[in-house]
Amino acid sequence: MTLDQYVRNLREIVARHSDPVEITELVAPLARQFAKSPELRRPEYRECDAEQGFGVHMLHEEPNHDLAVFLVSWLPNRGTTPHNHKTWAVVVGIEGQEQEISYDRRDDGSQPGYADLTPAGETVMTVDDIARCYPEHIHSVRNVGKDISMSLHTYGRHINYTGRSEFDVEHKLEKPYVIRVADDEYVRARPPVSSVTGP
Ligand SMILES: [Fe+2]
Repeated sequence: MTLDQYVRNLREIVARHSDPVEITELVAPLARQFAKSPELRRPEYRECDAEQGFGVHMLHEEPNHDLAVFLVSWLPNRGTTPHNHKTWAVVVGIEGQEQEISYDRRDDGSQPGYADLTPAGETVMTVDDIARCYPEHIHSVRNVGKDISMSLHTYGRHINYTGRSEFDVEHKLEKPYVIRVADDEYVRARPPVSSVTGP
C-alpha cells in the first residue's frame, strides 16, 4: 500500500465515521498493511532527535492538520513523558520493542495544571503489533530494546494542534505538550538539534 492509497482510505473512513472506537477499528488493519510499505524504509526516517529522544518524521497531514501520519524513530532507553492525545491514534510497531505504560486519571480535570495519575498497565509493542488510543487515554512510551525502534503513528489530527497535555506524575502536574517534528515549523523555530543515525 502506498501513502497515497493509505491517506485516501483514511479520508473515506473519517467521512463516514466520527466515533474514535469505530475509526481506529477500521484504520488498524490498513495501518498494519501500510507499515510494511517499502517507502517507509528510507534511511532518513531512522534519524532520531538526540535531545528529544525520538525523531518524528511527518508523512502526511491535511491542510487543516487533520489526518496526520508520522514515522517515529526512538533511541534506546528514551521515550516520552506520560501524555494524552486529544484525538484518536493508531500505532503499528515496525522495528524493535516499545514499552507502553497506561495511566488512570483520578481527578476530574477541573483544576487547571493539576492531574492525579496512577499507572494502570504495561505492554511491550513489537513488530506488527497495534496500539489504539482514544482522545483522553494517557500513556508513556519508551524504547526498551538495545537498538533504535520505529513505529508508524496515525492520528485524527496532528498532535501539536489538539491542545493535548503531558503529565508529571510525581508532582501531579499537567502542562501543554508539543513535540518537535522534523522539517516543520517546530524545527525551524528552534536552534538546530544534533541527530544520530541508527545502525
Ligand atoms: Fe502517545
